[in-house]
Amino acid sequence: MAVTSSSERGSWNSKLGFILAAAGSAVGLGNIWGFPTKVATEGGAAYLIIYLLCTFLIGFPVMVAELSIGRKSGKNPVGAFKALSSNKFFPLVGLWGVICGVVILSFYTVIAGWAFGYAFEEIFYFLGWDSAAAWLTDTGNGPKNALIASVFMFGTIKIITGGVSDGIEKATKTMMPLLIGIIVIMIGYVLTQPGASEGVKEYLLPDFSRINAGLIFSAMGQAFFSLSLGMGALITYGSYLSKKENIPQAAALVTLADVGIAFLAGLMIIPAMYVAQAAGIEIFVGDQLASSTDLVFQILPALFHTIGGVLGLVLGVVFFLLLSIAALTSTISLLEVPVAYVIDEHNVPRKKAAWGVGLGILVISIIVSFYPSLIGTFDNIFNNLGLPIGGLLMCIFVAFVWKTDSALSEMELGFEGVKQTLFAKVWPVFIWIICPAAIAYNIISNFL
Ligand code: PFF
Repeated sequence: MAVTSSSERGSWNSKLGFILAAAGSAVGLGNIWGFPTKVATEGGAAYLIIYLLCTFLIGFPVMVAELSIGRKSGKNPVGAFKALSSNKFFPLVGLWGVICGVVILSFYTVIAGWAFGYAFEEIFYFLGWDSAAAWLTDTGNGPKNALIASVFMFGTIKIITGGVSDGIEKATKTMMPLLIGIIVIMIGYVLTQPGASEGVKEYLLPDFSRINAGLIFSAMGQAFFSLSLGMGALITYGSYLSKKENIPQAAALVTLADVGIAFLAGLMIIPAMYVAQAAGIEIFVGDQLASSTDLVFQILPALFHTIGGVLGLVLGVVFFLLLSIAALTSTISLLEVPVAYVIDEHNVPRKKAAWGVGLGILVISIIVSFYPSLIGTFDNIFNNLGLPIGGLLMCIFVAFVWKTDSALSEMELGFEGVKQTLFAKVWPVFIWIICPAAIAYNIISNFL
């Protein structure tokens, strides 16, 4: 097993630093692009309810498991499974996570590039430079997509080469409250516009007849994606976590921050769709949505443009910049997984690992830039299916190989007396039975 010095691996500066970094990983395009798009396309409030159940009943217990594996082993996902048992299969689970991370990052940068481009589109629109604005809004434009995705990837690599704490902790600390503030302002605006009430009904009044195996499967994948679970990102982040920290508490805070921002984003975007429709923008063709992957990128600029003037400009620019930073704190964690793997397992220095892996993934990003329809396919295989499978196997590992009691002993270091709490009685039941059974059942029933 490769040995890496702790100075090469780094660690978080503070407790808040870790929570911010993990929340930064969790909060991203998944909350503001993925979640509202899926609510809109797959079942409105019924989707919201199933998503919340998946997050709290499956996602949260798996997050505690991932963080415990990471902190105990102090390793990347492959090294962690090697360190905690002699079983030869589970390091492959770690490797699967690394592969999912690589593919997800390749399309994530393209979507992040759309968000970043829209910050400038708002300025060009304000100045009346219509053709430049139109160039930026064309999500099918390969060279443009590739250019902005490359800028995004270089930014990510640059931060990763600096190590884990400084950039990530600082960026998240200012971004998160600002992002929440601006979303709340936008919700206030949207809800006073004509048409909004229909969107609020769609978002909050469930029609249970819309729940089916496909919806549950999609909501489960979304929960994993949004919490950054199932691919070892939180094993990796947990490996930099001090032994003094309380793992269940940190996991609870990260989960609440993530769900809170997703919920608010939905409350902004779903009513905004109906407001846009009432203003004559084509959102639905018949009862089908006119677009899916770029839905949010049509609704939001339309909204900022209807606010208009300097206020619309400022809100639009700030919003898309914040969304880009939220995406950046997620791409950092996506890249950190394969980079930590290469550092730990192949003894490569951090800088070399970050550039080598980052540029390799950029090649896939450029292909996705020219063929954006690949996003849906990659999302289905490596996110909706890949992450829950990773989560399922991690539960099996903690339940039957490493054992939940060992995980609780690891938690005990930063949470004295945890073994006497209700948490210690309930959490293992989730890891032994409820999470694996629910994940396996959902995957199988979706395919049947
Ligand atoms: N959680 C991120 C989001 O919601 O945008 C995406 C993500 C980051 C998924 C890191 C997985 C991961 F390991």
